[in-house]
Amino acid sequence: MTHPPFPPPSLSRRLLAWYRRAARPLPWRADRDPYRVWISEIMLQQTQVATVEAYFERFMVAFPTVGDLAAADESEVLRLWEGLGYYRRARQLHLAARQIASEHDGRFPDDGEAVRGLPGIGRYTAGAILSIAFDRREPILEANTVRLLSRLVAFRGNPHDAAGQKHLWQVAEEILPRKSVGEFNQALMELGSQLCTPRDPACDGCPLRMLCPTFAGGLQAVIPRAKVKPRIEAVRQAAVVVRRADRRVLLMQHGEGERWAGLWDFPRIELGDERGAALGRRIGDAMRDEFAVNVAPGEHLATMRHSVTRFRITLECYAAECVDGRKAGKVNGGNGRTVERRVRWCAAAEVEKLPLNTTGRKISRLLLTTGRNGAGENARRAR
Ligand code: ADE
Repeated sequence: MTHPPFPPPSLSRRLLAWYRRAARPLPWRADRDPYRVWISEIMLQQTQVATVEAYFERFMVAFPTVGDLAAADESEVLRLWEGLGYYRRARQLHLAARQIASEHDGRFPDDGEAVRGLPGIGRYTAGAILSIAFDRREPILEANTVRLLSRLVAFRGNPHDAAGQKHLWQVAEEILPRKSVGEFNQALMELGSQLCTPRDPACDGCPLRMLCPTFAGGLQAVIPRAKVKPRIEAVRQAAVVVRRADRRVLLMQHGEGERWAGLWDFPRIELGDERGAALGRRIGDAMRDEFAVNVAPGEHLATMRHSVTRFRITLECYAAECVDGRKAGKVNGGNGRTVERRVRWCAAAEVEKLPLNTTGRKISRLLLTTGRNGAGENARRAR
């Protein structure tokens, strides 16, 4: 028996015809400026389109060109990234902009080697930029296309292990048309996100239905194979709002290699299951040992629950008065680790300007809206 040809000759025509009708008018699709394509693709790694839209527009207003981004301070870039998560992306974006400014005259390179040599640009992002902005015949593979291509070739293996990835990258390369590669790649992602969804895909409206062995076999629920979920780990921490007599609060900057590297936060400490007086002692000891300030623990402000990667964090937020303490500088923080963290005493206006992680910003908003930030009537009126 001979196999039907792969890719099926009508695949690209069907897909592009559908995309030209169904593509959402997303802000980064307005033109093919490589800078805009690059920023959007970095933001879209691990983040939903609906979330990215607003961030993308604000980012473009703040930094319209590579040169503007290269000239900015890292903290300004992180401030605009606040809430998007995976902050390493923003720091690498900034480093890459500086590299483009110094090595490529401020023009985004159109050479594959140069693009792949930029910080934060892996195989997927390079393929996306080169195909979308420069119409190079380069494949892409990301979450949506892993699912779509797995179904299109009825791939029964694990799409996330090395063999599965190798196979799917090869499929992604084989199906590329000769022309309109950027449009074709975007159409794959669009079809993956709009119709070929993880659960209950909308096969009725799919332009590739007649070419799809997964549809033919009714195998949508088992292809692609389900991912093994990481083990969730519960963590308990405290964030401490230490206030000085001049109403400034102590902030720390997460150090290199830490989850929120570059971002500021209220001092965070690890907790066990201490409660009541034992919790107060733990906070006092940790603030002295890790942050070199003596504090009198104060009221409980809030309990926040948030998840980061596989960690489910319960964050107990406490107020504390500074009894005596250090000036700004560096501390060796964090439960025995020797990572260096900067600390500084900030007035409310400075807290507003610094990039904070999500819970740090929530706490600062809480202080503002409850008038606990020390600015008194002004803060209350500004609500
Ligand atoms: N996800 C990643 N890149 C994308 C793009 N260019 N359009 C839609 N979704 C995407």
